[in-house]
Amino acid sequence: MAIQSETPELEKVVPEAQDFLPLLGTDHVELYVGNAKQAAHFYKSAFGFQSMAYAGLETGVKDRTSYVVEQGKMRLVLTTPLTKDHEINEHLRLHGDGVKVIALWVDDARKAFAETTKRGAVPYFEPRVEKDADGEVVKSGIKLYGDTVHIFVERKNYHGTFLPGYKPWKSAYNPPTAGLKYVDHMVANVGWNEMNPWVKFYEDVMGFANVLGFDDKDISTEYSALMSKVMSNGNGRIKFPINEPAEGKKKSQVEEYLDFYNGPGVQHIAMATDDIVKTVRELMSRGVEFLKVPSSYYDNLLDRVGKIDEDLGPLSELGILVDRDDEGYLLQLFTKPLQDRPTLFIEIIQRKGAKSFGKGNFKALFEAIEREQELRGTL
Ligand code: FE2
Repeated sequence: MAIQSETPELEKVVPEAQDFLPLLGTDHVELYVGNAKQAAHFYKSAFGFQSMAYAGLETGVKDRTSYVVEQGKMRLVLTTPLTKDHEINEHLRLHGDGVKVIALWVDDARKAFAETTKRGAVPYFEPRVEKDADGEVVKSGIKLYGDTVHIFVERKNYHGTFLPGYKPWKSAYNPPTAGLKYVDHMVANVGWNEMNPWVKFYEDVMGFANVLGFDDKDISTEYSALMSKVMSNGNGRIKFPINEPAEGKKKSQVEEYLDFYNGPGVQHIAMATDDIVKTVRELMSRGVEFLKVPSSYYDNLLDRVGKIDEDLGPLSELGILVDRDDEGYLLQLFTKPLQDRPTLFIEIIQRKGAKSFGKGNFKALFEAIEREQELRGTL
């Protein structure tokens, strides 16, 4: 099933990586949320996700409800507990709404579990087979930073809508998509001095390679700083930048995240589009709020990034950021946090050859985040 393999914008052979798993793509992302019904409505209405699958009381699941929404190659699972003693309640108490599972699509979930645990991964659950009338799926899981986990999903013998146990979700309410295509990258925030151990985890346990790094000189403003390293798997389809806070005059956005999430977790999911102007205009009309850089950002933009295909007018009107590297350029924009805790947010990105992450925008962006932190009293 070639659901998520066609991401040529991302793919780049990373010779240092060893693809012993190997990973075919991001299978899905599961968020634990306080109210899955309302969250699903939000991701449909605001972000253009489409109703896909459902599991809950009506399908024989007694302790939780999950709504699956899809857009392009992305699938989000929104799960909430139904019973007072469910372990998901503790996740919600500590973290609020957030990403629990980064599920990775593999050919062999037993092998993925054996290879990673042999190299030091802590098991989340052993390989197991889940079946229904549409076939069978093999899943296994390992633990990550904080309470986050990777689940390996082997679905070559499955022909159903999503996973065994889920029914297709036919909704009467189907707002159009916003043109979002696939997960470009997902970023982790980890604690002080924890970036390098997690870099090593992705190298040793997952066979990833460190393809880029930014220190506190690259990522600092007058007030705050952070460090980041980007980990990639061998075919370049999966990229996980890992951030840790760095010393500054005031509290960095990573520390603010760690305070409100009560530990490490996923900071943002970057979603790719082929037409960022159209996508962002659509998202704004549906109420999605974005960080805004000062209009002076656009004064010398073309001197900084060179010639681009897009007109400057719509970019500055919508606040879209541009950066260039050796291979091309990219356009990007970041939402405000998606929930009341200043934790998870979404990046919208369009790549025009660039394989990097917008280093030239870090300063303007982090100053925009600091203005938000100032309003929250958390700088
Ligand atoms: Fe990003």
